[in-house]
Amino acid sequence: MSMPPKQYQLFATTPKGLELLLVDELKALGATEASEKLAGVNFTGDLTLAYKACLWSRLANRILLKLRQVPAATPEELYEGVQSIAWDEHLHPEGTLTVNFVTSQSQITHTLFGAQKVKDAIVDQFRDKYDVRPNVSQDQPDININVYVNRDIATISLDLSGESLHRRKYRLDGGSAPLKENLAAAILIRAGWPAIAKEGGLLTDPMCGSGTLLIEGALMAADIAPGLSREYFGFLNWKQHQPAIWEKLKEEAVKRRDNGILSLPPIVGFDEDSDAIKNAFENIERAGLLGKIHVERRELADFVSKANSLPGLLIVNPPYGERLGEIEDLGPLYTLLGDKLKTLAPEGERVWKAAVFTGNPELGKVMGIRAKKFYALYNGAIPCKLLLFDISPEKFIDRNREGFR
Ligand SMILES: C[S@@+](CC[C@H](N)C(=O)[O-])C[C@H]1O[C@@H](n2cnc3c(N)ncnc32)[C@H](O)[C@@H]1O
Repeated sequence: MSMPPKQYQLFATTPKGLELLLVDELKALGATEASEKLAGVNFTGDLTLAYKACLWSRLANRILLKLRQVPAATPEELYEGVQSIAWDEHLHPEGTLTVNFVTSQSQITHTLFGAQKVKDAIVDQFRDKYDVRPNVSQDQPDININVYVNRDIATISLDLSGESLHRRKYRLDGGSAPLKENLAAAILIRAGWPAIAKEGGLLTDPMCGSGTLLIEGALMAADIAPGLSREYFGFLNWKQHQPAIWEKLKEEAVKRRDNGILSLPPIVGFDEDSDAIKNAFENIERAGLLGKIHVERRELADFVSKANSLPGLLIVNPPYGERLGEIEDLGPLYTLLGDKLKTLAPEGERVWKAAVFTGNPELGKVMGIRAKKFYALYNGAIPCKLLLFDISPEKFIDRNREGFR
């Protein structure tokens, strides 16, 4: 009889505010135990689940595999604790590694110093045993070690993702502060996009910038694994990596993509800025979605929804300004957005949904539509709100009658 697969304690990191969605996502991937922590989720599972999380999580940043917890009140204690792990079970003596060190509420306060201690402990262990030492490398090392010290206890983990999973590889670095891919995915999930997509509803973003919401929406609707285009993961050169499991998961993901891409609903985006549209187009191409998402330069004032399509979801992350003057200037843009939403009022049974993600929910008030629900989220450090609307006339506010400015 074959042995049941080894179970690991895993931790998925995620931006603050996405934890509950991530619990649901990991359970859907097969995690039997998944519990919410601040900016992360603890879960248990075998290597298949850990790999699946790396390939399929739309919300996680990193997937950490816990090796050990050790006391770390002093540098010596930390050194000893790190040495209690047999590192040659994870890495070849001439391999490469990197250490990511985070500390909070602990006596070791200096991250560079802490990381150096951890490296010394590992390197010394190899040198004593093999007379050869692994090298430190930031560039796609064989293993990524994550050490989190909290209240003088160090949790030592392997970072299986290696590089944050929000990097799906369809976007190049730089450009004008677009939404992070996993935040965009969370916005789409909160807005109910997966269900709307299944019914064939349209997705449109009238201020699409680099197209993140449209691309993440297409990946979801086409059942495309967000990690499928990544070539590097932190486990590929790990000594305990099981290529057969990984290859099988990738093959399944390719099949699901080839099948899913055949039934994509219409996805359409606009932006007034031609550079943004060029950027969106290139991202769409890199995501393998050419011809599946339509983007075009167009002012919000000229926005019309695609004729003959089923009602769907209008999703948008309008500019929200950071200084007071900018915020006041944006009032008319939000009013115009509200007017455009109202043009989507239903003629038949189905109601359009809208989702507006903004760092300035006050601006949402001039839209003249009552939000059905809102969620607090962060865009990096900026507290933001996701406002959800059902576009039906009873939700419209008459600006004149209610003394709306
Ligand atoms: C915050 S960015 C959107 C970023 C996008 N979600 C992304 O991930 O790249 C806001 C976008 O609104 C566009 N925009 C501002 N005013 C507009 C208008 N009147 N009509 C159309 N687009 C507009 C800007 O060009 C900018 O690309």
